[in-house]
Amino acid sequence: MVGIDFGKPLFTREEIQRKIQELGARISSDYAEKDLLVVGVLKGAIFFMSDLLRSLKISVRMDFIHCTSSKGSHPVQIISDMKEDIKGKDVLLVEDIMDSGVTIDYLKKMLIARGPDSLKVCVLLDKAERRKVQIEADYAGFRIPNKYVVGYGLDYKDRYRNLPYIAVLPMEERQG
Ligand code: IMP
Ligand code: MG
Repeated sequence: MVGIDFGKPLFTREEIQRKIQELGARISSDYAEKDLLVVGVLKGAIFFMSDLLRSLKISVRMDFIHCTSSKGSHPVQIISDMKEDIKGKDVLLVEDIMDSGVTIDYLKKMLIARGPDSLKVCVLLDKAERRKVQIEADYAGFRIPNKYVVGYGLDYKDRYRNLPYIAVLPMEERQG
């Protein structure tokens, strides 16, 4: 499909879906009495967010923030902000992966300043050993080792997001 051999997936579609059902059950129970607004971080979170929302047993609304990720000393930049006013709302920020933690830390601070009632974070993947700032996700799918992964929304130079599974990017593909 994409012309390169990714070998054995790190997580298959089925494993991803099972994990999402678990996360969805926890979120449905935690927000049973609430009016939840789910905010996806574009572009990486789109596949995860769409499956996660369909696994929920509660009524939710959705919005998106499009930002650039932190890279080295480059700060996070907002490309397109969300539309909803979150003052007094229960907000769940959804992202594909937490790596250094800088991106989520930045977005969390930005959103907290807008006065939500609550703000939690849900990520599919967690590269905990790479953390540069002290932050943990409230809901995390899989903890992964320090490898560069693609698929199911995760990209390398904006490619491979559409793989239906998650795979480690072969080293020889990383130069080009
Ligand atoms: P952080 O600010 O270092 O936590 O970076 C988070 C962002 O970096 C994520 O939203 C991804 O866009 C990107 N990222 C980090 N690790 C990977 C990876 O292994 N594959 C694809 N993107 C990644
Ligand atoms: Mg990305």
